[in-house]
Amino acid sequence: MADTLTITDNRTGKTYEIPIADGTIRATDLRQIKAGPDDQGLATYDPAFMNTAACRSRITFIDGDRGILMYRGYPIEQLAERSTYLETAYLIIFGELPTATQLQQWVREITYHTMLHENIKKLMEGFQYDAHPMGVFLSTVGAFSTFYPDAKKIFDEKSRLKQIHRLIAKVPTIAAYAYRHSIGRPYVYPDNDLSFTGNFLNMLFKMTELKYQVNPVLERALDVLFILHADHEQNCSTSAMRNIGSSHADPYSSMAGAAAALYGPLHGGANEAVLRMLTEIGSVANVPAFIKRVKGGEGRLMGFGHRVYKSYDPRAKIIKQTADQVFEVTGRNPLLEIALELERIALEDEYFISRKLYPNVDFYSGLIYQAMGFPVEMFPVLFAIPRTSGWIAQWEEMLLDPEQKIARPKQIYTGARRRDYVPLPDRQG
Ligand code: CMC
Repeated sequence: MADTLTITDNRTGKTYEIPIADGTIRATDLRQIKAGPDDQGLATYDPAFMNTAACRSRITFIDGDRGILMYRGYPIEQLAERSTYLETAYLIIFGELPTATQLQQWVREITYHTMLHENIKKLMEGFQYDAHPMGVFLSTVGAFSTFYPDAKKIFDEKSRLKQIHRLIAKVPTIAAYAYRHSIGRPYVYPDNDLSFTGNFLNMLFKMTELKYQVNPVLERALDVLFILHADHEQNCSTSAMRNIGSSHADPYSSMAGAAAALYGPLHGGANEAVLRMLTEIGSVANVPAFIKRVKGGEGRLMGFGHRVYKSYDPRAKIIKQTADQVFEVTGRNPLLEIALELERIALEDEYFISRKLYPNVDFYSGLIYQAMGFPVEMFPVLFAIPRTSGWIAQWEEMLLDPEQKIARPKQIYTGARRRDYVPLPDRQG
């Protein structure tokens, strides 16, 4: 017998059989439950999508209770240890690990699309010197839609592939230009001899030397961080990407919206907020007082807690190991002691235990970024670069899914009932 849910409506005495598939019922199946002819049918109310699946996806699997994260079935731990960011991006977008030839071709395509149009450079020069790099990043990604009008052909597979190459390849260049702009240094053009992350470091930190020497430990550490951030199923920014894309906007416009969603301190801005929090705490001695304030409702312990993970975020575990390797090269970040003490106290404290609050991906990533020489404003941008592959994969999956339509949630109207317009002289108060 098929799985069904039997619902008895006490208002009418009627009974309904609602099919259950994949642990869900279809919200539209509830519409048939009506108390009268004018009743539009039962709907579900789910602010912040706490318990609603909005799509079927084959990209990323998360088991939040067990701390499991897999891209296309491959455990994140294996990818972080054995893959590269570009190979993982290929996997996420195309669904399978590439063959040697496919990988070579993919890396070549990305390498040859890293340059920005000179007018993009001029556009970026228009920002104030103290413009937040994430604001610059998302505006520039949005502006891309005017440079590549062919991107509007979203149902043309060839055109989509072209935009995919452009997006993956150009986001590090935009990020690097945004950074160089903020410190008043000339932009550095991409170097095709370097790896994806090596070239990114070159565009950020090259000075007057003829060839930038990439530190292999930092290059690999950044690549691992990029792998860890590449996708995370239906989070706030990915949902934004899918929602905007569902109106058939081009991928650049959709991604500008996704990047805007990532900018917020509860999402991709959290790593920046963690660093500000650690700096504000100032010393290990101040940690207990800070925890007390958090428990009293005065602010949050940034980098802790997750909507999905109710155990240690598997990405945070890998990042902690990466941090050790980076600190061997750069020296220990003095804020690390404060972070370790915060984690130690929080993991023993009833407030955090009962709410299942554990370190998330952002708790340690900022410490690594800072040790590598990135200013805190760049942290959300460092999240956006690799997340581009996840956003694109999710956008394409949404476009090609015959069940998807333009996204349009329902509402429960709680405002005033019908009333007549009052002329200005007759209004009270
Ligand atoms: N510090 C202190 N208390 C917290 C925290 C925190 N970081 N996170 C959640 N809580 C408490 C919250 O006050 C609530 O307590 P109560 O039941 O007494 O009202 C309870 O835990 C449940 O919180 P919630 O806000 O209902 O949980 P949520 O699933 O809506 O929020 C979250 C998830 C990530 C937004 C939240 O945990 C948070 O604000 N964390 C800090 C910001 C952060 O680190 N964000 C990065 C997320 S990982 C990277 C990414 O994917 O973007």
